[in-house]
Amino acid sequence: MAEICLEAKDLCKTYIVDGFSNNVLQNINLQIEEGEFVSIMGPSGSGKSTLLYTISGMDDMTAGKVIFDGKDLSEMNEKQLTKMRLLKMGFIFQQMYMMKKLSIMDNIVLPGYQAGLVSRDEVNKKAEDLMRKLGIIETAGREITEVSGGQLQRACLARALINSPKVLFADEPTGALNSKASMEVLEELVKANKSGTTVLMVTHSEKVAASSDRIIYLVDGDVQGELVLGKIGSSDDETGKKSDAEMLQIRERKLRKWLEEMGW
Ligand SMILES: Nc1ncnc2c1ncn2[C@@H]1O[C@H](COP(=O)(O)OP(=O)(O)O)[C@@H](O)[C@H]1O
Ligand SMILES: [Mg+2]
Repeated sequence: MAEICLEAKDLCKTYIVDGFSNNVLQNINLQIEEGEFVSIMGPSGSGKSTLLYTISGMDDMTAGKVIFDGKDLSEMNEKQLTKMRLLKMGFIFQQMYMMKKLSIMDNIVLPGYQAGLVSRDEVNKKAEDLMRKLGIIETAGREITEVSGGQLQRACLARALINSPKVLFADEPTGALNSKASMEVLEELVKANKSGTTVLMVTHSEKVAASSDRIIYLVDGDVQGELVLGKIGSSDDETGKKSDAEMLQIRERKLRKWLEEMGW
């Protein structure tokens, strides 16, 4: 069995708004293995984003524990958390946040410079390599308003991968994209996962989630169920030796049936 790289133990998150408390996450227990590609699905407002932000230490938890890379996040101060996020985690979001005043290339190299693990020349080289792999090298010098949504999200992915994170967190990474761009971004996420990055992704798309190894279904801040599809083409993947397109269709059908049972 692979090692657990991320674990939530009785994770709770309560927001207090105008004196009313809203228990958004209620005793979440989950484990993510190294190298896994896990999707979180569930109705709007079920706490998916909150789960992603608390489990990555981006937001604080109300109770419980998160163990990442063998360390308890609740015992880390803000400075340690910031460093850990910079060096070991990558993030992409539906809104594709990027610095407006910087070029695509400058946005991608920035966290590499901040980390200072290798020389700036090496960071630049790595950024170019990532951009080439992601098919966006021609956008390097452009402003962020001069590229398509799909290119921008691939640039966000390059930025997220610049420090070779252990885990990539993605909150509806294809939520703002058309179906062609969605599939292109998904393909890159699958490739990043194949090359060893663990991925934890929130998605509303059955088509996107069908490529992940496991799907966790959240309702009212509680894990209602999970479906294991296995890695595409692996022995856990019951679809057998079929073409990629056929395999994906079978996985998607299985997922859709399960989601219906979950009340999707
Ligand atoms: N910063 C916040 N302050 C107060 N309530 C919040 C905050 N963020 C999220 N919530 C509430 O938490 C619940 C879950 O939100 P969220 O995690 O964004 O759900 P999802 O991503 O599944 O749509 C919602 O009821 C939302 O209103
Ligand atoms: Mg959300």
